[in-house]
Amino acid sequence: MTLTIKDEILKRFLSANGEPISGQLLADELGISRTAIWKHLQTLQEEGYTFETIKKKGYVLMTKPDKVDVPRVNAFLTTKRFGQTIHYLEECTSTQTIAHELARNGAKDGTLVIAETQTLGKGRMSRPWESTKGKGIWMTIIIRPDILPHQAPQFTLVAAVSIVNAIKSLCNQFTPYIKWPNDILINGRKCTGILTEMIAEMDRVQSLLIGIGINVNQQLSDFPEELHPIATSLRLEESKPLNRAELVGTILNHLENYCDLYVKEGFAPIKKLWEEASGTIGKRIKATTLTEVIEGKAVGITESGVLEIQTDTGEIKNVYSADIELK
Ligand code: BTN
Repeated sequence: MTLTIKDEILKRFLSANGEPISGQLLADELGISRTAIWKHLQTLQEEGYTFETIKKKGYVLMTKPDKVDVPRVNAFLTTKRFGQTIHYLEECTSTQTIAHELARNGAKDGTLVIAETQTLGKGRMSRPWESTKGKGIWMTIIIRPDILPHQAPQFTLVAAVSIVNAIKSLCNQFTPYIKWPNDILINGRKCTGILTEMIAEMDRVQSLLIGIGINVNQQLSDFPEELHPIATSLRLEESKPLNRAELVGTILNHLENYCDLYVKEGFAPIKKLWEEASGTIGKRIKATTLTEVIEGKAVGITESGVLEIQTDTGEIKNVYSADIELK
């Protein structure tokens, strides 16, 4: 990834671990004047970073705001494509809306749009999505797999598996699980939602926009009261705040690996991983669809992510869209 000069300066300070960096050295290495370096440091101060000047040694980064900006996410990436282009915004309406525009203008496979807050965050079924400033991960990844439109829903499952595995690698006080279709829950409360949208022609997907919302560092008081019984954050469950940029980087690393696995071996290995991470399969559930209420055992998902429920009469019913209650 090519970083802007400002982000390159920030990256160096972030990895200096509190050691001073000489302004002259920075200027020489980046091929710009010391005044230009000073101006970039001023901009960073306006963004919430503070620096101290140590005589004859240079500048020390004293405080850093908790952000999911380009240099921080970049520090955790091991990918070749995913997150190699990042559009970082302090505030936007919805990362999905911005991703749509970028995708239509030819954004590369793996382009990430990420914001500290969204004013019009979108959930599934046109529900609003709460995006508390600086506390969660609100991002959309644009991917361009060479697939047919009917395969698109499988990529929501690829994303769910990537997120669960990333959370598991950073948290050890709980086990997250997927509630069909693609909510990630901890102890019965939702911490993550996924919204996948598609730009396609009749016979070819042009791009998939995978929108991911994760409650990371919210305290209970950050959630509106009506969400208290149904929502949670990783911080509440892990009893400590998490590094959001590390989680973003880890998710993108998994997502690129699993998308590549899909291309190489098809959906079968992903389906297996999804079923292993699922809190729905094997359980007795009640599914409320638009037309009926189905009770029975969730026995699996089909190739297109459709839920299969075995009712008490032994009949297998396919459920395409429903609210699910685990019994
Ligand atoms: C759900 O209803 O569970 C899906 C929620 C998806 C929310 C994310 S946050 C980032 C991206 N931008 C949006 O407006 N929505 C998705």
